[in-house]
Amino acid sequence: MTILVTGGAGFIGSNFVLDWFAQRDEPIVNLDKLTYAGNLANLAPLERDARHLFVRGDIADSGLVRQLLARHRPRAILSFAAESHVDRSIHGPADFIRTNVLGTFNLLEEARAHWGGLSGREREDFRFLHVSTDEVYGSLGPEDPRFSETTAYSPNSPYSASKAGFSSYLVSMGLKLRPLGIAVTNVRFGFVDTKMAKSPRKPMMMTADAAATHILRCLETRPIQLTAPKLVGFLVHLIRWAQSVRVWMT
Ligand SMILES: NC(=O)c1ccc[n+]([C@@H]2O[C@H](COP(=O)([O-])OP(=O)(O)OC[C@H]3O[C@@H](n4cnc5c(N)ncnc54)[C@H](O)[C@@H]3O)[C@@H](O)[C@H]2O)c1
Repeated sequence: MTILVTGGAGFIGSNFVLDWFAQRDEPIVNLDKLTYAGNLANLAPLERDARHLFVRGDIADSGLVRQLLARHRPRAILSFAAESHVDRSIHGPADFIRTNVLGTFNLLEEARAHWGGLSGREREDFRFLHVSTDEVYGSLGPEDPRFSETTAYSPNSPYSASKAGFSSYLVSMGLKLRPLGIAVTNVRFGFVDTKMAKSPRKPMMMTADAAATHILRCLETRPIQLTAPKLVGFLVHLIRWAQSVRVWMT
């Protein structure tokens, strides 16, 4: 079995890939465009690791995505690839719309076409995880209550608007308009480092149990085993975040 990770040379994606191989041997095909944000040095420990296949390319490239799906037949797609820096989005929003909305939509459509050709367990077990962000909910003042799953989206930058755009699409297609068919999970994580997490004045992001709730909701009828009880109730920082995604995939 194999999984396809996009944006796996970036900040979070590379942590996920390293954490994955620290725990498991299942191969990863890592599709990354290597924009200014992607850095192969993040993946240096995997340089000669046959489990890791790095492919430089764009999620908006339908032909490439189709070819990778046909050749490697991954059991899941983890979509980390994004333009992710707020300041850059203010000065150049076009790349954010291109990758975060159109590129991610392209990836999903190719996944759906591929999924449509599967049968039996392969079809049933196929997963698409879209990584969104807590920034879709906007900003919190020091006295504001925490974000929850029912908080209305209120993006306040081109970055968060582009993430909210695709997340809203997923929510409407998955939950309201018509089922996507393929099992899609839309996670809206934020992460904080442990220092921030201890400060009650810092606005908080999403907890692991809230993330698990998202996952369970999206999976709907399928049971899921969460084998990291220590995660529940803690704020998620980067490593835990990577781990919680891996646990979901296990
Ligand atoms: N960093 C955070 O604080 C944070 C918080 C919550 C959610 N997120 C989300 O997590 C995901 C990963 O964030 P990050 O901080 O690792 O981002 P990052 O900017 O560090 O990495 C993004 C990666 O995606 C690649 N990429 C960009 N456009 C691409 C394209 N068109 N095709 C293929 N690859 C492409 C880049 O080369 C890079 O390696 C993003 O979806 C982001 O919105 C990030």
